[in-house]
Amino acid sequence: MIDIEELRKEIEKDIVAAKTVEDINSLYKKYLDKDGKISLVFRSFSGLTSEEKIKIGGVVNVLKQLVIDHIEKVSREIKDVDRKEKEKKDWIDITLPGKKPTIGHLHPLTQSINKVREIFEGLGFSIVEGPELESEWYNFDALNFPDDHPAREMQDTLFIKQSDRDKLSSKEKFLMRTHTSPVQVRHMQKNKPPIRILVPGRVFRNEATDASHEVNFYQVEGLMIDKDISVANYKSIVYEFCKAFYGKNSKIRLRPSFFPFTEPSFEVDMACTTCDGKGCSVCSQTGWLEVMGAGMVHPNVLKNSGVDPDQWQGFAFGFGWDRLAMMKYKIDDVRLFYNGDLRFLNQF
Ligand code: DAH
Repeated sequence: MIDIEELRKEIEKDIVAAKTVEDINSLYKKYLDKDGKISLVFRSFSGLTSEEKIKIGGVVNVLKQLVIDHIEKVSREIKDVDRKEKEKKDWIDITLPGKKPTIGHLHPLTQSINKVREIFEGLGFSIVEGPELESEWYNFDALNFPDDHPAREMQDTLFIKQSDRDKLSSKEKFLMRTHTSPVQVRHMQKNKPPIRILVPGRVFRNEATDASHEVNFYQVEGLMIDKDISVANYKSIVYEFCKAFYGKNSKIRLRPSFFPFTEPSFEVDMACTTCDGKGCSVCSQTGWLEVMGAGMVHPNVLKNSGVDPDQWQGFAFGFGWDRLAMMKYKIDDVRLFYNGDLRFLNQF
């Protein structure tokens, strides 16, 4: 029979030492498991009288409870420490001001074209787009450019290499379109008049870049074809647009000009928005800013597009959308639109 007094001493010593998860696991194994010391005491009861069983059993049960209580106590303490540590880690100072997420916004060029689109849609124009890689025919021939026009030179226009053209399996010469005007022809070939379209798009020129020139920039083309359309219709439309975009005090004037695809052609100026037409450095002291080119669509262009010039006529216009935004926001360098500098972009 095991010495109960010895067992008590051993248990008390073990209990004082058991502090970790591993300690209480071995405590359980040593005393309470199937082959643990306390279990063995109960199993060795067979030779005892009932009084002895009651007496020793009572003492051993007290020892057993001692071990159980200690195991429970230690595991409660461990859980408590874990919880407190987690709470400490998860703690947040609710009095601190929150972190503001940075939210982007539309690029100033996108904002201004959206405004332009809205105004022209209000005047009955639909928005149409065309390809940036264009054939020489659409970009020049169809628009009545003579064969020897300087824009057809390599140094002015970005032509596609012959080897790349072969991949397109076409005999035609291809180039990055120099203006949005070819979309006039593409649209008239597929749609019968009356026509009212606005064509925003990216265009390319083989330029040395400076404050007012970029290799890649944006244009907006307008075309209106109907019966009995005259320059007066054009003037009123462009005047409405300028008032809506720049403000109701806008003033415009038309000057004679030349474009191969319009006859007559003119240049439109707007009274300088910076000095109100008095003359300043922005308008080179003239009081006027050049806004767009325009004219009555040349009969040859109508013919090339499959439209009968004896029945239909109309006007076309084109302007630099970068320039438009530069004038509206008084920006003096076109390159600012393309370099992604947040100090600039965040002002819009
Ligand atoms: N395509 C011309 C350019 O890039 C702009 C232009 C002028 C467009 C007169 C027109 C127009 O439709 O009628 O310089």
